[in-house]
Amino acid sequence: MAPNLSAVPVDKLSKDDAIAELKRLAGEMAEHDQSYHQDDAPVISDAYYDALKSRNAAIEKKFTTLIRKDSSSLKVGAAPSSGFTKVQHSVPMLSLGNVFDEADVADFFARIRRFLGLGDSEPIDVIAEPKIDGLGFSARYEAGRFIIGATRGDGKVGEDITANLRTIRDMPDMLMGPAKNLPDVIEVRGEVFMTKSDFDALNKSQQEKGAKLFANPRNAAAGSLRQLDPKITEARPLTSFAYAWGEIDPLNWDSQQAYINRLKTLGFSTNPLTQVCTSVEEALAAYNAIGEQRASLPYDIDGVVYKVNRLDYQRRLGFVSRAPRWATAHKFPAEQAQTVLEKIDIQVGRTGSLTPVARLMPVNVGGVVVSNATLHNEDEIARKDIREGDTVIIQRAGDVIPQVVQVLTDKRKKNSTPFSYPITCPVCDSLAVREEGEAIRRCTGGLICGAQAVERLKHFVSRNTFDIEGLGAKNIEAFFDEGSIKNPVDIFTLEKRDAGPDNLTSLKNREGWGKTSAENLFAAINEKRTIRFDRFLFALGIRQIGQTTARLLAQAYVSLSALRAALAQGRDSEAYADLLNIESVGTAVANDLRAFFAEEHNQAVLDGLVRELIIEDFEAPDTDNSPLAGKTVVFTGTLKTMSRSEAKAGAQAFGAKVAGTVSTKTDLVITGPGAGSKLNKAEELGVEVMTEQDYLTLVGKT
Ligand code: IVH
Repeated sequence: MAPNLSAVPVDKLSKDDAIAELKRLAGEMAEHDQSYHQDDAPVISDAYYDALKSRNAAIEKKFTTLIRKDSSSLKVGAAPSSGFTKVQHSVPMLSLGNVFDEADVADFFARIRRFLGLGDSEPIDVIAEPKIDGLGFSARYEAGRFIIGATRGDGKVGEDITANLRTIRDMPDMLMGPAKNLPDVIEVRGEVFMTKSDFDALNKSQQEKGAKLFANPRNAAAGSLRQLDPKITEARPLTSFAYAWGEIDPLNWDSQQAYINRLKTLGFSTNPLTQVCTSVEEALAAYNAIGEQRASLPYDIDGVVYKVNRLDYQRRLGFVSRAPRWATAHKFPAEQAQTVLEKIDIQVGRTGSLTPVARLMPVNVGGVVVSNATLHNEDEIARKDIREGDTVIIQRAGDVIPQVVQVLTDKRKKNSTPFSYPITCPVCDSLAVREEGEAIRRCTGGLICGAQAVERLKHFVSRNTFDIEGLGAKNIEAFFDEGSIKNPVDIFTLEKRDAGPDNLTSLKNREGWGKTSAENLFAAINEKRTIRFDRFLFALGIRQIGQTTARLLAQAYVSLSALRAALAQGRDSEAYADLLNIESVGTAVANDLRAFFAEEHNQAVLDGLVRELIIEDFEAPDTDNSPLAGKTVVFTGTLKTMSRSEAKAGAQAFGAKVAGTVSTKTDLVITGPGAGSKLNKAEELGVEVMTEQDYLTLVGKT
């Protein structure tokens, strides 16, 4: 397999690396150009595309003789993000920290009090106002005239949406009032959104036209505002509220409240629910009052924002990384809905774990249709006495899997019976046991359990392991059911057997397949016959051996044969003591590893794989000059350009340690949208925080 160069900083690329990397970039960008321009269905974010483009440019700058004919730098226009010009914000557009309960709100006030050195009796006035679920904008006016408008972007650089903002009816083109009273420069900031009724009407007309439907008002507003053709924006009903400022000259008011009043006289819409509170109690009362109105408000809100009213206090309080110390968002609890739990299914995982899943009568929860919910485990079902046929309240918070939060027992049918959790595997019928102290019941079928075998195979070919294209979950299931792929070795002998005397009817003649698709599959498999040892080890799907542990083991043993030899020795050996010395390997992990490697069937599979594959020794990356060497980093929120595991592996390749929680040991927290308590914690501890984009720049990925 070609080494993955995408994580290597440009100045560390050799000439050969650069040739390979430029080729990869050209190919990847051509694919994305196709999906964006021809198919109108981009599969990556604009930011990711930009990252590819600038990496390409950086490599070309260093290796000027290697520029390819099909390089993106030679193409004019047409790149997705070139649609909008970038705008550098003269004052960054900040984000807000979050608080979730009353104690957090009290803490927020107490922190401010402490920071300012205020006594308990001195009042701190805050403004409480709804947090609008829309898109942040910044609109710059010079001498009263609207000059330029931008999206928030990454807070430092946004997209130029001047023409689109001009079409929004409640955004003034000229500020109101006598010219001599107008500020020389004012950047008015606020939120653009779509009302619930406008959203419904838009979707109705989209449906009639056979056009794409929007998932929720926020998406509709975003889709409407980020239109290259402002005529489309104009035809869409967008609304705005102004609530903040960027650059301003002169600044001649001394409170948030006074600024909002001034916004009104300048001609902006401001939120009528904005109010001044003089204590924690009043702030909480405002939160509750706004919360009660939430459903009946004409627009979506997702919380209440508190902002210290006095600007001199705001100035002293300043910022922690990207969020002001003087403001925070008090989020509303997750969205809930009522539905019927039709059935409880038990799924069997790769390591035999039995997991209950609730199959629901589909229901719309805050704009997303939900038909499955997690039930966690056996005890949870018993504790809540959840039964099939029950009417339940489900809850969805952000991107997490919906949960059943309550059973409405008064709606329960008379003949209902408690759910009896199976004690045998629903797939192979082997006994399912729950070990002492464990929450999970596991199938004891091991290698004879079809469900475990299939899940292991799916894991084996998945993105972070062998990553075999065209061998997705559906195909694995089909091949397993018909018997042509029963274990990992079979994947690599499939082509041989397909052509050979085996009774397998040739793939190319099978329904749903053809000559080309069969050949493509074989080619995709053959392409993955070389794999690095750590990836291979993770691919085996051994219980408790995740990506990190696999990597640590690979680092320690370098090769598969060395690991096998070490595990074959007894518990009193030096080799066993060495094993326990590896970070994250305790006796439980050691036992699972030894058990796996001692199993005869597994040994046969390993021997088969060694015959079919080239398993490359693990080589520790050179991290001496990496900006992340020896640092402990935490990723939080939704990352745009990479999956969590990709981010983790990438950071490790740069010599970082990746942790799951923020503590005093953390050096750096990388945040994406939706970052919550970890970001708060980082700010509290004064840990350095950066956005995904800044992180990519730091490690030279952009
Ligand atoms: S104030 C310096 N007030 O929430 C403070 N933001 O999570 C900057 N938002 O990017 C923001 N309603 O787009 C503020 N009433 C409100 C808001 C609000 C919605 C958005 C804003 C910001 C995001 C931060």
